[in-house]
Amino acid sequence: MSEAVTATAAPTAVRLPPAPRIPKALQAVAFTISRRRAVERLVRRYGNIFTINLPVYGPAVVVADTQMAKQIFTTSPEDLGNIQPNLSRLLGSGSVFALDGDDHRGRRRLLAPPFHGKSVKNYVNIIEEETLRETVGWPEGKEFASLPSMMRITLNVILRAVFGAGGAELDELRRIIPPWVTLGSRLAALPKPARTYGRYSPWGRLAEWRRKYDVVIDKLIADERADPHFEERTDILALMLRSRYEDGSPMSRKDIGDELLTLLAAGHETTAATLGWAFERLRRHPDVLAALVAEADTDDNELRQATILEVQRARTVIDFAGRHVYAPVFELGGWVIPRGYSILVSIAQIHANPDAFPDPDHFDPKRYIGTKPSTFAWIPFGGGTRRCVGAAFANMEMDVVLRTVLWHFTIETTTAPGEKWHARGVAFTPTNGGRIVVHRRNR
Ligand code: HEM
Repeated sequence: MSEAVTATAAPTAVRLPPAPRIPKALQAVAFTISRRRAVERLVRRYGNIFTINLPVYGPAVVVADTQMAKQIFTTSPEDLGNIQPNLSRLLGSGSVFALDGDDHRGRRRLLAPPFHGKSVKNYVNIIEEETLRETVGWPEGKEFASLPSMMRITLNVILRAVFGAGGAELDELRRIIPPWVTLGSRLAALPKPARTYGRYSPWGRLAEWRRKYDVVIDKLIADERADPHFEERTDILALMLRSRYEDGSPMSRKDIGDELLTLLAAGHETTAATLGWAFERLRRHPDVLAALVAEADTDDNELRQATILEVQRARTVIDFAGRHVYAPVFELGGWVIPRGYSILVSIAQIHANPDAFPDPDHFDPKRYIGTKPSTFAWIPFGGGTRRCVGAAFANMEMDVVLRTVLWHFTIETTTAPGEKWHARGVAFTPTNGGRIVVHRRNR
């Protein structure tokens, strides 16, 4: 080390938050069986910040405190960067999930316009159409799981919003994407082998789906470019093909493929899981449900928006937002965390903070009537420079799906206990798929 460096202030000594005194292998088992319950227990035992050692992520500090979350989300990405490894292991090195620093900033600037609050209004009709198309086949008076329907609606919506049209290629994507996302999100938290071990191994199957996906994307790109109205198209693929980085260069073919896959994967299961939970909650809260049905007959949506906020708080589908310490040390709440550690903000635990959300176990949309939740206490979309790109899109989609369903159906209420959490890999869904019983409304 040079003398000049030695002469500067001595580096702050590392001081890690408390760590459970159980072997790494046992911590891994507890996390694999139920990371939700494991974190709940550790927060009860050690408080709002503790250290763990995880498979894949290695040493990590888990944070369940609103003020600390604020500090993490507002720290420069040069000091606290992208969690390693991340979903780009599945989505490709051209995905926004893979990028850091200037590359990430540039890509976010490029992705922002189609996901802006105003642009997403272009997709309202698509969402309404897809909801009607799916729900026309719903059985009356017979219990069924709402989640598979929500998965189909959100996949069709994102496919149409991204590619702007239907056709054989979209049918092929409709066939490939769901099993790919399901398997991919299960593999996301597992170590990736150096080789795929053949076409029928899980990683081999992902590679095969990717090959098929690339064939479809090439065809869709060629079709878009050949469209005489290409310059006026508002679908996300057209916007990507036309977009330029600050230096005037376009996105590469590989980056477009990786990014489209990212939007399809990130935008579909998360939104469907939240909608599944919305039905699960509403069936068990007759007063909220009745008020929502009355509101759906008006142009108002204050209660529906409050309900979406509360479902996202009380039934958080993505439980962590992760960062990686790039600075020599990162000081947080009196602790000093060294470079190379992961920091995992426990979204689910922060949503259970009684100071921010009195009686947090109680499902109560009225908490947000006339007031907005605080930016760093209500964080289902994460925060800071990596906050979810699709937040406005997801919010509008959930609003339109709920409005359309409530307009056309009554939902039977139940006194049955709430459904438990099921870890699908990345997202948490209701164990029984958000079961409902519906009847068509006479209009
Ligand atoms: C209810 C639905 C959704 C939830 C709960 C959700 C949640 C999240 C969370 C927690 C993150 C990580 C944020 C962070 O690290 O601070 C994220 C990132 C992301 N989400 Fe979403 N999301 C949803 C819907 C969508 C939709 C509809 C899209 C796109 C169409 C989308 C695209 C993305 C992308 C591209 C990122 C990566 C952002 C980056 O790394 O810069 N998400 N989302």
